[in-house]
Amino acid sequence: MKKIQSKNIKDTQKVAHDLVASLDGASLIALMGNLGAGKTVFVKALAEALGVKDNVTSPTFVLMKIYDTKHDIIKKLVHVDCYRLEGKEDLVDIGLSEYIEDPNTLVVVEWADKISNLPEQRIKISIQNLGKDARLIEID
Ligand SMILES: Nc1ncnc2c1ncn2[C@@H]1O[C@H](COP(=O)(O)OP(=O)(O)OP(=O)(O)O)[C@@H](O)[C@H]1O
Ligand SMILES: [Mg+2]
Repeated sequence: MKKIQSKNIKDTQKVAHDLVASLDGASLIALMGNLGAGKTVFVKALAEALGVKDNVTSPTFVLMKIYDTKHDIIKKLVHVDCYRLEGKEDLVDIGLSEYIEDPNTLVVVEWADKISNLPEQRIKISIQNLGKDARLIEID
């Protein structure tokens, strides 16, 4: 596990940029952390690093948003926010499995623990608010 201290948004953005640089293909990222920890900030930075031109906003009311990138391998970014899901949902039911299986799509899920059968093979990132602008980012 990698632990990184972030002192401000810029630090968090750098962690996201470094992560994109280290990816050798499309993957699945599960983002954990309390309300306001910085999960969406992290996804916006991932999008920027992938060359997404559209403005990335939280998909709270639509469950997922799909963006085209300018990256060589990762052609699409799928941003999922499960916060409003009532109970445990199956990823086939919410239409996510086709994206997870697509080798050219990076899927990033906020509140991933609300999905019952997310593949075990995923990058787990937890962001913890340490007060003010300080965050602890753990990548596993
Ligand atoms: N070091 C930091 N890294 C990331 N965000 C930070 C940092 N310091 C302060 N912030 C602030 O914390 C907030 C994080 O909000 P964000 O919407 O990303 O949280 P979230 O984890 O997605 O919350 P939610 O569960 O509501 O979706 C922003 O207002 C951002 O400006
Ligand atoms: Mg969010």
